Amino acid sequence: MKPQSYEAVIGSGLLSSAAQEVVAALGHASSRGQCFVVTAPPVRKHWEKELLESLKKAEIKFHVLEMRDGERHKNLSTVEDLAAQMVKLGADRGSFVIALGGGVVGDVSGMLASIYMRGIHYVQLPTTFLAQVDASVGGKTGVNLASGKNLLGTFHQPRLVLADTATLETLPEREYRSGLYEALKCGVIRNAAIFEFMEKERDRVLTRDPEVLEWLITECIRVKAEVVEADERENDLRRILNFGHTIGHALEAETSYRYFLHGEAVAWGMVAASMIAAAMQKTSPATAQRIIASVLAYAPLPKVEVRSKNIARRILSDKKTTNGVAHFVLPSEIGKVQISSDVPQKAVLQAVDELRYLSRA
Ligand SMILES: NC(=O)c1ccc[n+]([C@@H]2O[C@H](COP(=O)([O-])OP(=O)(O)OC[C@H]3O[C@@H](n4cnc5c(N)ncnc54)[C@H](O)[C@@H]3O)[C@@H](O)[C@H]2O)c1
Ligand SMILES: [Zn+2]
Repeated sequence: MKPQSYEAVIGSGLLSSAAQEVVAALGHASSRGQCFVVTAPPVRKHWEKELLESLKKAEIKFHVLEMRDGERHKNLSTVEDLAAQMVKLGADRGSFVIALGGGVVGDVSGMLASIYMRGIHYVQLPTTFLAQVDASVGGKTGVNLASGKNLLGTFHQPRLVLADTATLETLPEREYRSGLYEALKCGVIRNAAIFEFMEKERDRVLTRDPEVLEWLITECIRVKAEVVEADERENDLRRILNFGHTIGHALEAETSYRYFLHGEAVAWGMVAASMIAAAMQKTSPATAQRIIASVLAYAPLPKVEVRSKNIARRILSDKKTTNGVAHFVLPSEIGKVQISSDVPQKAVLQAVDELRYLSRA
């Protein structure tokens, strides 16, 4: 089944006219149904006002539902709690959800919308760089179980993604940098222009120049949307989005998700994958070095202090590993990657050793 198409609108100051976009995307549904804005305290504090004013002006009936902040609360009980509040407030099949926040709020809201009365519409208003370039696009929703991340989830496409780059002004520096690595990833896997831009214009990127943000986010969304569209249900092409994630996920899991931010772990994962690609002669040493240098240019990164053996073991238990075969996304050249299922364990061990070594520098 072809996914329903929807628009991604990107620009600075869009929140204050968000309601108009919502009306355009939802049509009648927006005037008849109640709107449930799901958000978390740090976002609410800075950005709720603009959105709510816009909804009021458009005469959309709304309620704000606050969830607790952070990955720890991305779970079924949060979804259940939000759903219970919706029932109390009279939400029906004509109601819709607006997610105002980072990837956590987005994933929880998407999951909520996908199962509330068997599915209602939702809109993503992502407020972190990571959510703007990645989490809000593609229609994956999900929550964590105590035994692992994103183990429960659904596919449910939002009706609209509206990325207001102005919201990034209040994003903590470390969160911002962490998201940038996903953009760098988009460059390596499919769009050399993104990579080259981030390589040359580091300072403008780091100062969050609005023009730069708009361009970068638009290009990254294009990469993700193209890949996802070509492969809606996680078959082969979608795998390329996992560049840096095989080792990245293992690093996150090995440190109990409390040490690296997701993008930081992916950054080390991209460094490791580049080393592996060079060692296996799937790319030139110069290309590998170029990717590694670009990653490190956006440092600082938390040091890697884990045992290589543990990382290799974790890779085999990752949910993306099927029948004991781990798939690595390895760079071929900038903008082009290949999937490899024959990476020897030794190459993984060596790469993680190297990460530890680089961390000491
Ligand atoms: N569905 C997908 O396809 C997909 C893809 C990638 C990641 N994800 C998920 O996204 C989640 C990570 O998302 P994230 O990195 O956005 O983290 P997050 O949602 O936890 O946000 C990070 C922190 O920044 C705060 N924040 C958000 N916007 C802010 C703003 N504008 N100003 C100030 N503070 C702000 C948040 O409240 C939070 O404290 C993970 O759970 C991951 O699994 C999902
Ligand atoms: Zn990621």
